[in-house]
Amino acid sequence: MVERRTVGIVGLGHVGLATAVAFAQHGLTVLGYDTDSDRVRDLARGRTPIFEPELAQLLARHTKSGRLRLEESHREIAKEASAIFLAVPTPSTMGGSIDLSFLSRAAIEAADAIKRSGEWRLLVIKSTVVPETAETFIGPLVEKTARLRPGKDFSVASNPEFLAEGTMVRDAVNPLRVVIGVNDGRSEKLLRNLYAPFRTEIVVLTPSGAELVKYASNAMLANRVSFANEFSRLAIEAGVDVYDIMRVIGMDPRIGEKFLAAGPGFGGSCFSKDLKALLCWARDHSIELPLVEATLKTNERQAGAIVDILEESAPGLKGRTVAVLGLAFKKGTSDTRESRAYPMIDELLRRGANAVLYDPVAIETFRLGIKSSDRPYDSSRVTYSRTLENALSSSDYAIIQTDWDEFKEAPPKIWAKLSGKLVVDARRTLDPVRLRRFGVEYCAVGLGGLKS
Ligand code: UGA
Repeated sequence: MVERRTVGIVGLGHVGLATAVAFAQHGLTVLGYDTDSDRVRDLARGRTPIFEPELAQLLARHTKSGRLRLEESHREIAKEASAIFLAVPTPSTMGGSIDLSFLSRAAIEAADAIKRSGEWRLLVIKSTVVPETAETFIGPLVEKTARLRPGKDFSVASNPEFLAEGTMVRDAVNPLRVVIGVNDGRSEKLLRNLYAPFRTEIVVLTPSGAELVKYASNAMLANRVSFANEFSRLAIEAGVDVYDIMRVIGMDPRIGEKFLAAGPGFGGSCFSKDLKALLCWARDHSIELPLVEATLKTNERQAGAIVDILEESAPGLKGRTVAVLGLAFKKGTSDTRESRAYPMIDELLRRGANAVLYDPVAIETFRLGIKSSDRPYDSSRVTYSRTLENALSSSDYAIIQTDWDEFKEAPPKIWAKLSGKLVVDARRTLDPVRLRRFGVEYCAVGLGGLKS
């Protein structure tokens, strides 16, 4: 019997977990599954591998109450859940296009389980995918591999996720809108029903419409960051503060103030990957996207632009040690995927400097990222520090790469370690007046006019 209040979530990474706890929080029964059995075992005990506010508490609460159950296969899920959300990774191929191999594997396994259940099931693609994926790839794949009849045995919908890391539980529990891409009334009705307790606007589009909305959203957000970063270079030349410029343009409601903070460039698992996938998809359809290309190009230059700020004010980088403070791609997460720390360190090494790395939560994930890449650091030039104090004592300069509160709130005796030395604030998080009191020289992204 189809249970309309039960959902299945396949893939328990950032998006899958946030979706799972959000549905559980709104009173639905959630059945979760992941191919990583260690992860499933940890989650069943209420332990999460992800550092994310509120996640551990909600996970513990809902696994304990039984509202969130961890299953060992697709079969249990398809038996009970009317809608099966696929939240597996969609990484980039070497050429930048979208790699749908995880998604197709998950869909094939789900198809087999649906067949065994003998009931109509809705497969909902939560992962970020290019337009036409639901309709021309996953739908036909499920139909062919399990000989299921579209519309009769199963339907496929798209339901992109807009949560941001660091606030992912809050974003998933209280979404600003829910976008569903469906082709039939039955799927729409079911998704409306499942999302009704969220009390938010539900926007209904076609599957391709929902898929494209997600890319448009990320392309626009990334574009704003690159825009602010381009102006950060202009601002230094003009002797003004780019934060003033962005604050003032943001007063115009047609522009708005959000996502205009100049920094080291955007990182994270989504923006670069999604923009590249979008470019590839557009190219396959003979469409050029110069704005999207420029957004990526500006971003690729920004880590170097931060090192330029250091080099212009420092007597020299060769043989000097630079503390790179913050390895996470932004604060509030241990995620270092596409962190701008990577190109920043590469740039420092290329210019002859050594680096000492510190992050309050992300050192281990950063190390893993380096280990799995094909270019490990020379340990005589790149070292890790266990404390902020040690990182500062053993370096000649410092760059703030992530705006962790620990840096802003560090006591005077810590910053005094940099007395007479230079700090480049790539996040505009420190108080320059306070630092100068400790004799620290201060430069920052987009902050011109310091030398006059
Ligand atoms: C982003 C989007 O914000 C989410 O809406 C989307 O769901 C998600 O990608 C996704 O596709 O899964 P996320 O990557 O977690 O979320 O992080 P953001 O807060 O968007 O930040 C991305 C990067 O841009 C970070 O490196 C951040 O530091 C940088 N950023 C952001 C700036 O440099 N300046 C800003 O003003 C804002």
